[in-house]
Amino acid sequence: MDEKIRWGILGPGNISHKFATGFNVVENSELYAVGSRDIGRANTFGDEYNIPIRYGSYHELVSDPDVDAIYIATPHSFHKEHAMLCLSKGKAVLCEKPFSINATEAKEMVKCASENNVFLMEAMWTRFLPIYSQIQEWIKEGSIGDIRMITADFGFRTTFNPEGRLFRPELGGGALLDVGIYTISLVSFILGGKSPSRISSMANLGKSGVDEQSAMILGYEDGEMAILYTAINTNTKQEAVILGEKGSISIPSFWNATSAILKVDGEKEHIVEMSHKANGYCYEAEEVNRCLREGKIESHRMSWSESISIMETMDEIRRQWGLKYPME
Ligand SMILES: NC(=O)c1ccc[n+]([C@@H]2O[C@H](COP(=O)([O-])OP(=O)(O)OC[C@H]3O[C@@H](n4cnc5c(N)ncnc54)[C@H](OP(=O)(O)O)[C@@H]3O)[C@@H](O)[C@H]2O)c1
Repeated sequence: MDEKIRWGILGPGNISHKFATGFNVVENSELYAVGSRDIGRANTFGDEYNIPIRYGSYHELVSDPDVDAIYIATPHSFHKEHAMLCLSKGKAVLCEKPFSINATEAKEMVKCASENNVFLMEAMWTRFLPIYSQIQEWIKEGSIGDIRMITADFGFRTTFNPEGRLFRPELGGGALLDVGIYTISLVSFILGGKSPSRISSMANLGKSGVDEQSAMILGYEDGEMAILYTAINTNTKQEAVILGEKGSISIPSFWNATSAILKVDGEKEHIVEMSHKANGYCYEAEEVNRCLREGKIESHRMSWSESISIMETMDEIRRQWGLKYPME
């Protein structure tokens, strides 16, 4: 794949605007097509981002022989259906987080990618931000020693709206799958893809039956622990702290981080700033392009087994709360 990689966007909603903005700086590829359930919305989005080909259905988008890769940005409950639609047509897929509604769906998507021999990756954009390479390096070189504990929180306050995606159970609403996933994915990333062996969690389910806030404790085989909380009804600090046997790494605004603070016991703080190219959504697309050019169907930086493990963790958390979505 030496020539330009041609991308399509499936579902031009809120996050697609950010993706398209970030895509501007991705080299050797182009935003070539957009597919919406409504041709008017596809045209409006296409005009805004200079996307030449517009379709009024997802089927038309995935049937275009000139599209190489598709970014799926529909609500959670459609990720499996839309990913499998793309994969069955041989299109590489970058699928928004959460990868799926649950681990069973995630496994079906992975099986489909594997059987069709087509690339598939969860769009957990945070881990591809440049500051995370620095953080990984500090951990690898033993700056803070073995990791003992990780704390992370991601909560924001929005008004209750029974019509909104976040509050509708049939769209996979709730804080956990929307923003809590960032805290769980961060811990997985920092611990090299390990799955927790013990999970304890408590939530407040709101008027529409979805989790409006929750707290989670994850325990791991080697004794590491993670203390996490998430909300859609409360603003939180949105910070992560990695605590090691001889120091710590703090990551302000960890989900879109541009800085990290290394504090080795007995030494001065060391602050590193690394701004994003564009708005930061370019890096995940660059990773897809890199994998496609290398003929890979899976990225080792956001592997299939890790996406499945993250869904399994969230399945167990929801099981403890008694939260089942209508499609389950
Ligand atoms: N990475 C991030 O920073 C980030 C941020 C926000 C959201 N997300 C993820 O991106 C996904 C989409 O979130 P969003 O906030 O962009 O959602 P959204 O704006 O509510 O919906 C996205 C698009 O999905 C399409 N869609 C297809 N079937 C739909 C249905 N039955 N109901 C509503 N929309 C439907 C619509 O496009 P057409 O009808 O025009 O086809 C809609 O514009 C979610 O899974 C979310 O977790 C990621």
